[in-house]
Amino acid sequence: MLIKKPSDVKSSEITPEKVYRNRRAFMKETAALALGGSLLGGASPVLAQDGDALKARAPEALSLSAPAPWWESKFAEVTPAPDQEPYFTGETLTPYRDVTRYNNFYEFGMDKSDPSSRSGTFRTDPWSVEISGEVAKPGTYHLEDLLGPMQLEERVYRLRCVEAWSMVIPWIGFPLVDLIKRFEPTSKAKFVEFETLVDPETMPGVTSRFAIVDWPYREGLRIDEATHPLTFMAVGLYGSYLPAQNGAPMRLVVPWKYGFKSIKSIVRINFRETMPNTTWNDLQANEYGFYANVNPQVHHPRWRQDMERRLPQTLFSRQYIETRLFNGYADQVASLYSGMDLAVNY
Ligand code: MTE
Repeated sequence: MLIKKPSDVKSSEITPEKVYRNRRAFMKETAALALGGSLLGGASPVLAQDGDALKARAPEALSLSAPAPWWESKFAEVTPAPDQEPYFTGETLTPYRDVTRYNNFYEFGMDKSDPSSRSGTFRTDPWSVEISGEVAKPGTYHLEDLLGPMQLEERVYRLRCVEAWSMVIPWIGFPLVDLIKRFEPTSKAKFVEFETLVDPETMPGVTSRFAIVDWPYREGLRIDEATHPLTFMAVGLYGSYLPAQNGAPMRLVVPWKYGFKSIKSIVRINFRETMPNTTWNDLQANEYGFYANVNPQVHHPRWRQDMERRLPQTLFSRQYIETRLFNGYADQVASLYSGMDLAVNY
């Protein structure tokens, strides 16, 4: 793999001015939309306009219809991301087209374009999630009841894949801890395990003879990781509903870990005393650890991890940037791993 040295990265690609202008343009757009709303006598709250501004930046997001009518009222009030790290980054957003066309979602196939091109029949209503294990309130909950009390908010996070590419994505969702609290985990709940839907009717990847995964796709976090304020459950992006290829109706986003931890289309959340098996770790333990914290000093056998390719890219322009420890979220999460050898616990 060709790696561009930091000195080769054009300053125009990283200039703070560009970052600054990008954020200002976004805020002006938001203000203009909010003003337009009030001049027209629109009753929609300013909060919702931030989502509208994001949709305006990504016209394709406008065409997505709500998975069910109740989603519309849920999305009417979204708290905008505060204008500062770690819940916002001034880095240029990855265009909607790349966020929704360059995906890993093996249930739909192994090519980056498979999830968007082969998920047309995937449906997310009705949808329920089983909550099980070490909690006082286990049960199977309809998604509408799960999301009902949650206040949706926007978060702009970096997403770093172990394949050494990265994006900047404006998610909509809520902190996972707010959901977890409602089920009242017991003192034995040391880990949280997640599972993705397996539907052979609508997910062509799960019946493919080339499939390498033992379905369902499984992921897990330690309870302190799962309840960390940065750990996010996303139900939308770019001011609109989550497209199937990005893990509709609900997927995890753990911004300081490699993307494979951010499991999509979740149907089960299980609280347990012991570390769960996880999909990629089961497949190839020497390549994919349970922790999977972004770490520029611990390389994957096939991908160096000290640089990353920031999408979008064209044939003629590729932007490489240096990868940061914990994907730039070290101030928030490094203490979770104090005393641990990160090269051993990769
Ligand atoms: N979740 C499921 N169920 N199946 C998958 O194949 N791929 C993971 C993760 N979640 C995957 C998944 C990987 S490898 C990455 S990098 C991210 O999803 C990609 O998320 P994105 O397609 O929204 O960028």
